Amino acid sequence: MTSPSDVPTTVHRHADLEALSRAAARALVADIESVLESQDRYALALAGGSTPRRLYELLAAGTEGALPWPRIHLFWGDERYVPPTHPDSNTRRARQVLIDEIPIPADNVHPIPTQGDAPEADAAAYEAILRRFFSDGPPTFDTVLLGLGSDGHTASLFPETSVLADDERWVRVVTAPPRHDVSTRISCTLPVLNGARRAIFLAAGPRKRAAVHRVLNEQDESLPATHVQPRAQLDWYLDRACWPPKHD
Ligand code: 6PG
Repeated sequence: MTSPSDVPTTVHRHADLEALSRAAARALVADIESVLESQDRYALALAGGSTPRRLYELLAAGTEGALPWPRIHLFWGDERYVPPTHPDSNTRRARQVLIDEIPIPADNVHPIPTQGDAPEADAAAYEAILRRFFSDGPPTFDTVLLGLGSDGHTASLFPETSVLADDERWVRVVTAPPRHDVSTRISCTLPVLNGARRAIFLAAGPRKRAAVHRVLNEQDESLPATHVQPRAQLDWYLDRACWPPKHD
């Protein structure tokens, strides 16, 4: 497991989910525009769960700036092992509010395969997709978007699981703890998340407050989110409910 290092980290506190989503959208659009001045394509890994929904809607609407979608490639940091048409599918959620609303070529969208009852084969297939995209070099997403669970998990990297120590494989089948949606998951590992130039966490609501505090104030290494240390920039977009001002 990587130890927390001193990657430049900025915490952005906003009034609510709408405000943090708008700020994250503005920052992401600006980053994409800047990076595409000097490279041909931008590789963005989407987060699952419900928090990023508003961000995706804003990106689709272009309200924070129109994006050159033909030069952007979309991936996922993790997926629930359900068909892509299932309500719990991260791919389905992103297609509904983002992908089906933007002029992005189908070849630029790289969902994690969950085709049937072969999670190990599908995880290996996604790892091959990533290795091919990154020309068998290190996995260097331009940005990975991430959510945070109240237990400090991110992507499908849950506390006290062996996947956290895996520094070989890029994609693993994991089993979520009992209370989570869908137990069988496919997740990118920490080496993939940390190979990214930037990581952006999105979290909102009082349910996340304890986990945010343990990661940001205590650097609690028992929480997987603490070990997300991208190469250049780490941003947290939070609302006041999960990151209250110190002296209000
Ligand atoms: C998933 C996500 C997971 C999610 C957190 C937060 O597939 O569920 O990858 O890591 O980001 O559980 O979920 P919410 O945004 O729904 O609170």
